[in-house]
Amino acid sequence: MLYRRFGNTGFEVSALGFGCMRLPLASADAVFHKDDGEIDETTSADLLHWAIDQGVNYIDTAYPYHQGNSEPFVGRALQGGYRKRVHLATKLPSWLIQSRQDMDRYLDEQLTRLQTDCIDCYLVHTINRSFWPTLIEHRVFDFLDGARADGRIRFAGFSFHDELDLFKEVVDAYDWSFCQIQYNYLDEHYQAGRAGLDYASTRGLGVVIMEPLRGGRLAANLPAAVQQLWNQAPVRRSPAEWALRFLWDHPGISVVLSGMNHMAQLVENVRLAGEVRPNSLSAPERALIDEAKVIYRQRMKVDCTNCGYCMPCPAGVNIPGCFTLFNNAHILEDVATHRIFYNVHIGPAHKASNCVECGKCEEACPQHIPIRSVLKETEKLFNDEP
Ligand SMILES: NC(=O)c1ccc[n+]([C@@H]2O[C@H](COP(=O)([O-])OP(=O)(O)OC[C@H]3O[C@@H](n4cnc5c(N)ncnc54)[C@H](OP(=O)(O)O)[C@@H]3O)[C@@H](O)[C@H]2O)c1
Ligand code: SF4
Ligand code: SF4
Repeated sequence: MLYRRFGNTGFEVSALGFGCMRLPLASADAVFHKDDGEIDETTSADLLHWAIDQGVNYIDTAYPYHQGNSEPFVGRALQGGYRKRVHLATKLPSWLIQSRQDMDRYLDEQLTRLQTDCIDCYLVHTINRSFWPTLIEHRVFDFLDGARADGRIRFAGFSFHDELDLFKEVVDAYDWSFCQIQYNYLDEHYQAGRAGLDYASTRGLGVVIMEPLRGGRLAANLPAAVQQLWNQAPVRRSPAEWALRFLWDHPGISVVLSGMNHMAQLVENVRLAGEVRPNSLSAPERALIDEAKVIYRQRMKVDCTNCGYCMPCPAGVNIPGCFTLFNNAHILEDVATHRIFYNVHIGPAHKASNCVECGKCEEACPQHIPIRSVLKETEKLFNDEP
């Protein structure tokens, strides 16, 4: 395992971090994104322990992941000596904050859930234009100062989903130790993007990457033209390897989080985290990645990363499941097969047609997707006869 500076904190983090938002689920329906919060704890703990035994020392969870079950799972899994071997990260649920007291209340609950006295890396979760003013109004910096002073947290950071100008404003607003941004070769100029990454790292912040494979979209169900590009590359690499190499090539990145739910994925990512160094991509390799980016951009119809932040929908719509099939039908140019998946696996109670247009999901979506209108397109694609 290679280790990298975590900004100006003075400690080093493993190049690969373990994200606990996409843990293996007990239900086979996980394939169609029905996250009922029932984590397959045995398999998940095996993966987590193996990762730590290989040198992974950064574990990322959050209050809402797996319907609130991720933090308690991590708390249990880190017993038996694992807790002290890792930097544990979790996040203040910004969208639930209605007072200064709420912040202390959630942090105390998280310490209990995680069975720890101190959270090493505490993030204000998913800062965007709607949550930021409320957080300021309720004196979030006073809360962070207090929690650092009384030892409940060690380093303060934030995760971010909005435009670059707000990102810079947030970076400059407080003495943050680190930030977490969505970054991968498709999102080089999206949200904080490369400019935000450079802005934060040159100011001494550790930079944590989320969605490095765009929730798995850069690793599986590839457009045929992208697969062909990788097949013809001078060196044979999996699609996930190309995407991860793009990230670790950046010297400003501290740790790349991955939500791994199979041992084979973990083994591959750990191997790469032990060998890919900054500035190691050649110019032709970068050009190849740029070509892949163009092909994806032409085919993808909706920028959904399957994060599940929009769920649960009060009307039962399986939003990420619908969007996965909608995208895959276009990427793989196969509407007929995906129509069958839609009707059989998503099922009548969870199809796009159930949407009552309340708009709740759109407030939560970090990608700012016009969910209601894309659901209409999804329903039209799959329910219009060919
Ligand atoms: N703060 C925030 O707002 C926020 C938002 C999103 C994520 N996060 C954090 O960041 C972490 C990482 O993001 P992410 O889970 O979206 O990461 P990601 O790496 O973009 O997506 C994870 C998915 O990629 C696939 N995968 C991983 N390694 C692979 C490999 N070697 N080969 C093939 N497929 C592979 C798996 O897909 P399959 O399941 O399809 O096999 C896995 O579920 C999360 O777990 C979470 O802790 C934070
Ligand atoms: S707008 Fe539709 S999909 Fe979104 S939460 Fe409301 S009912 Fe569900
Ligand atoms: S629609 Fe938005 S919130 Fe829902 S899974 Fe996709 S990216 Fe996440």
